[in-house]
Amino acid sequence: MTIVVTGATGNVGRPLVTQLAAAGVPVRAVTRTPSASQFPDGVQAADSVLDALPGASAVFLNSRALGPQLSDVVESARRHRVRKLVALSAINADDDFSRQPSRVRGDRNKEVEQLCVDSGLEWVSLRPTVFATNFVGMWSAQIRAGDVVGGPYAAASSAPIVEADIAAVAAHALSTDELVGQKIPLTGPQALTNTELVDVIGTVLGRPLRYVEAPPDVVRQRFIAIGLGGDFADAYTAMLADSVDNPALVTGEVEKITGRPATTFAQWVSAHRQLFAK
Ligand SMILES: NC(=O)c1ccc[n+]([C@@H]2O[C@H](COP(=O)([O-])OP(=O)(O)OC[C@H]3O[C@@H](n4cnc5c(N)ncnc54)[C@H](OP(=O)(O)O)[C@@H]3O)[C@@H](O)[C@H]2O)c1
Repeated sequence: MTIVVTGATGNVGRPLVTQLAAAGVPVRAVTRTPSASQFPDGVQAADSVLDALPGASAVFLNSRALGPQLSDVVESARRHRVRKLVALSAINADDDFSRQPSRVRGDRNKEVEQLCVDSGLEWVSLRPTVFATNFVGMWSAQIRAGDVVGGPYAAASSAPIVEADIAAVAAHALSTDELVGQKIPLTGPQALTNTELVDVIGTVLGRPLRYVEAPPDVVRQRFIAIGLGGDFADAYTAMLADSVDNPALVTGEVEKITGRPATTFAQWVSAHRQLFAK
């Protein structure tokens, strides 16, 4: 069994490569810069997904990493008789695109799933909710600078999932047949409002942090400042609006599939406290 992992240096790909390699599974890890990638011993780094496909049994597809190559890669996987495709999609893939900030970044979570379903190959689609690491990009600069986090909708709810947990489910999907034909919504173990997420970070850091609602123009400026842009801010705000006073879905899929509880947001902050510390 040889598994090709695209997006292999990323939030999900890196822990996935590490977990597969630790389990003794042969891995071809795709990255634009193999020489700088620092994968575990035994992992083959590849700079071309198309070259990595011959002889592979399963492929993990990250649409951000694949960009315009996405459909060619699925077609090539079919031609090379790859047995299984595992898509990294998203819990909101079927929502209106105006409420999917990821689309502004060019991600194609709906398409990657549909290409897998239509491929005629065995497939699994992973549909994670918001990643825990998002809060580093969105909030860490504010938390390093002071005790207030500003953003939209204090009451908006999410159930952040830790990327290593997505990777653990992906490893299971790639190396067993148990999940074939499923679209699996993956969440963290708790729904928390923005106010509660900031409280968790404050408790871990031992600081009195507060979440304060910011007006839309300030939210836009913040997203522009961190490089994600005004359109991303608008889609993110629209996505959050849906979850105000409407607790985020919590699924037990991580625990059901991996046999161990999903990592809590507090555990994740505790393990990454240096990212938020002054
Ligand atoms: N963040 C969330 O809350 C969330 C929630 C649900 C679903 N998702 C979906 O998950 C996927 C992203 O997964 P991820 O966070 O693991 O990916 P990532 O870390 O952002 O990127 C994975 C790898 O892809 C390569 N890459 C990144 N941007 C690229 C670009 N513009 N062009 C070509 N290659 C690029 C980079 O590898 P090299 O530099 O080594 O080539 C990077 O390490 C997206 O489809 C996203 O919509 C995200």
